[in-house]
Amino acid sequence: MSLVEISDLTVAFDGTRVLHGIDLTIDKGEAVGLVGESGCGKSVTWLAALGLLPGKATVGGSVRLGDRQLVGASRAALESVRGSRIAMIFQDPSSSLNPVIRVGRQIAETVELHQGLKGKAARFEAIRLMELVGIPDAVRRFDNFPHEFSGGQNQRLMIAMALSGNPDLLVADEPTTALDATIQAQILDLLISIRAETGMAIVFISHDLGAVSQVCERVCVMYAGRIVERCSTEALFREPRHPYTRGLFDAIPRLDGGRERMVPIPGTVPQPGRLPGGCAFSPRCGHTSELCHNSLPQLAELGDGRAAACFHPIGGIAPASATGRAKVRQGATTA
Ligand SMILES: Nc1ncnc2c1ncn2[C@@H]1O[C@H](COP(=O)(O)OP(=O)(O)OP(=O)(O)O)[C@@H](O)[C@H]1O
Ligand SMILES: [Mg+2]
Repeated sequence: MSLVEISDLTVAFDGTRVLHGIDLTIDKGEAVGLVGESGCGKSVTWLAALGLLPGKATVGGSVRLGDRQLVGASRAALESVRGSRIAMIFQDPSSSLNPVIRVGRQIAETVELHQGLKGKAARFEAIRLMELVGIPDAVRRFDNFPHEFSGGQNQRLMIAMALSGNPDLLVADEPTTALDATIQAQILDLLISIRAETGMAIVFISHDLGAVSQVCERVCVMYAGRIVERCSTEALFREPRHPYTRGLFDAIPRLDGGRERMVPIPGTVPQPGRLPGGCAFSPRCGHTSELCHNSLPQLAELGDGRAAACFHPIGGIAPASATGRAKVRQGATTA
């Protein structure tokens, strides 16, 4: 059953489009990864969905949570959703914990806000959450300030805050990027075990395909403000279909092949106001035809439960779903 349904979500800053119509459905209890290079719109998608963008942003389209429409909803309506139905762990943890308030107090306050508990009961619940996320000696550390915790512990505290409202969906935006590999693995395990315990859905935003594969069963790949590939994690790892996704895999350093196996994608993500004509990835793609430079490929089903926005997906197009385009492919591809 779908929990959140995003359709044709668009965002512009000062008139410049950065999101070009995102369609994304999150089902109850599922974990979905959102990957793509820096600047492709991963964070903006969820900040827009939760009404957290600055006033200069223009948001269009629809974000439905059950029977509620979040785009254009009042401040009060959005506040009642944030934290209690959908919680977000932000990319920069230092922006979320207040440095001058004791950590336990901050968590207890969010518990009071979302669960209606007061005084000792809120304190008790805050300590339980600190223990749940693996803060040792939580009773004593309740009165510490954020700077008295390590980076990994601060990230755990952020997760505790996010859990304080028993959300149906946790959006974790790059929750492990600033952490070393061991702590990163611990935080991933924590997210996996909390999901198993609570049944909450997770949207996991990350550059790291490996981390995504551990947490999520489904992945959406974003490029230049669009979803360009959507499929199960297992299928994505077996055979990426969009040349951009393929490029992301090829850019991962491998333990087995030495440095020469790592092939970065040439060029960079285009600036939102300066998108090339046709497919935004075409200038960086090794599989292009005339068509790619002139027309915009839509996200289309490939016939095996996955979708890609590409005129020449790797492995071709399943004949049942797009014969017309398959012909174009034979006639026009230079790959
Ligand atoms: N407050 C803002 N004002 C103007 N432009 C913005 C603002 N926030 C984001 N953008 C632009 O929107 C685009 C998408 O940004 P977003 O933060 O969603 O990228 P991202 O995919 O999360 O990247 P990263 O992996 O670096 O976090 C970028 O071009 C960015 O410059
Ligand atoms: Mg981001």
